[in-house]
Amino acid sequence: MSTSTEAVLKRHPGAKRDSLIPILQEVQGVQGHLSREAIIEVGRHLGLPASKIYGVATFYNQFRFRAPGRFHVQVCRGTACHVKGSARVLDAVAQSLGVKPGETTRDGLFSLEVVACLGACGLAPVVAVNGEFHAGVNPDSVKAILETCRGKAAGDA
Ligand code: FES
Repeated sequence: MSTSTEAVLKRHPGAKRDSLIPILQEVQGVQGHLSREAIIEVGRHLGLPASKIYGVATFYNQFRFRAPGRFHVQVCRGTACHVKGSARVLDAVAQSLGVKPGETTRDGLFSLEVVACLGACGLAPVVAVNGEFHAGVNPDSVKAILETCRGKAAGDA
């Protein structure tokens, strides 16, 4: 049993099904994502099959099922960013990386997340890479940002 999942479950003795979402949030908080192993452990604790937990968790955009990439890319789709063209920015990132929101590239380099608001609406549209904000991005500039990340990774290889 994973000790971090175990620690979360110990905080919820005798938990029932209605504790599922808070427990998943806590597990993701400590592990960064929901691993298959963690889902099975939570299921055992709550008496729910893993398939049921996946069914519920996939309904919520907040849960990730794969470990974040080395570069975690957050594309803001809040109102201010939407008005300034964030849909095209998201398309450009998804196309460049070949993943959908919530996924991690096969090489583990990038993960993509869509967020509701990064709290920097004056800089819209905003993309954050590992928490570092890039303001006023467009499809071309965001691809250049990803290229810079690839270059950094190649330089470290
Ligand atoms: S809407 Fe994008 S930062 Fe607020």
